[in-house]
Amino acid sequence: MKKILITGGAGFIGSHVVRLLVNKYSQYHIFNLDKLTYAGNLENLSDVDDAINYTFIKGDITDEEFVNSLFKKHKFDSVIHLAAESHVDRSITDPLAFAKTNILGTMVLLNSFKSLWQNKWEGKLFYHVSTDEVYGTLGETGLFTETTSYDPNSPYSASKASSDHFVRAYGETFGLPYVISNCSNNYGANQFPEKLIPLFINNILNNKSLPVYGDGKYTRDWLYVVDHAIAIDIIFHKAKLGETYNIGGFNEWQNIDLIRLLCEQIDEKLNRKEGQSEKLITYVKDRPGHDLRYAIDASKINKELGWSPSVTFEEGLSKTIDWYLENEEWMKRIISGEYVDYYKNQYK
Ligand code: NAD
Ligand code: TYD
Repeated sequence: MKKILITGGAGFIGSHVVRLLVNKYSQYHIFNLDKLTYAGNLENLSDVDDAINYTFIKGDITDEEFVNSLFKKHKFDSVIHLAAESHVDRSITDPLAFAKTNILGTMVLLNSFKSLWQNKWEGKLFYHVSTDEVYGTLGETGLFTETTSYDPNSPYSASKASSDHFVRAYGETFGLPYVISNCSNNYGANQFPEKLIPLFINNILNNKSLPVYGDGKYTRDWLYVVDHAIAIDIIFHKAKLGETYNIGGFNEWQNIDLIRLLCEQIDEKLNRKEGQSEKLITYVKDRPGHDLRYAIDASKINKELGWSPSVTFEEGLSKTIDWYLENEEWMKRIISGEYVDYYKNQYK
């Protein structure tokens, strides 16, 4: 039985990847290593919890001794590495935490993988999941391709860029078999309400103000998280070693337009008066170093591996809102903890 280590599987994207692989591949044993930070939540995986091909391990990827012993014990054939500190705003208040987990943690995993297999690389793979934010910002036009130079602007994107470089360096220097994907902004079920879409859904449902940074003209390319998980599955099985793939939704939205669509969909679902939720929009102080625009050219993964997004943004957003409406308890439990302090601090 092939043993696959997924890191960060209790987080937003990781939980969708774990679910997909556990359900689809009974011939694999999926190990989920997660520290369960504020962003990790085992509730996200309650439906696969007792699957016989799934094991959860609580632990920190920066703990070298622990990670080494885990690799020796289980002899993982492959790693799909998602564990990270993932929120730009938090990286502005605590950059060091991002360097530790995202850079050091990735290196610890690379080292353990390298010492376990000692150049016997047949059938092995280290898959590093990364972000389009490593490319920095675009102006009004153009798209990020796999050959765009790295130019990160936030401590988050700088730490992810650094981890990408280390993965590539281990490939070049030690022959470690790897693949990297850089994806655009994800949205969907189980996303922690610090990121734009779940934060705004929660605030709209609770009639709280919607804090739009700056003029709201910043642009992101949005991808439904299930489509990202499918892309990861395809890349894991079909990608050429040593390659990078950009993943995106061909779906650019200025923040303010996206927020208006979100308000409109929620008003409709809750039978609220037309335009009611839009009144909650409040322009607030901009994020320092705010990247103007991200947009992905995802034609390589489309042409080489046959992947493309399966839902339109309107469909994906509607499914996402439905999930949050049906899972109010999930949200309530999350926003009762350290979230209260985070929110006060971030939006004071
Ligand atoms: P998330 O914050 O929801 O989840 C991160 C998970 O990693 C959590 O379960 C957390 O407990 C775990 N974790 C954090 N530090 C750890 C440590 N030291 N040891 C072990 N586990 C630890 O993040 P996400 O949005 O699901 O992102 C997952 C990955 O995808 C990240 O690498 C991120 O950079 C990348 N990514 C995210 C997006 C996006 O829009 N969310 C887009 C592109 C790429
Ligand atoms: P976010 O979800 O944090 O993702 P990222 O910064 O990684 O792209 O933010 C998406 C966009 O929404 C970004 O331009 C910042 C903006 N934003 C707000 O205007 N207000 C908010 O409260 C948040 C969290 C984000």
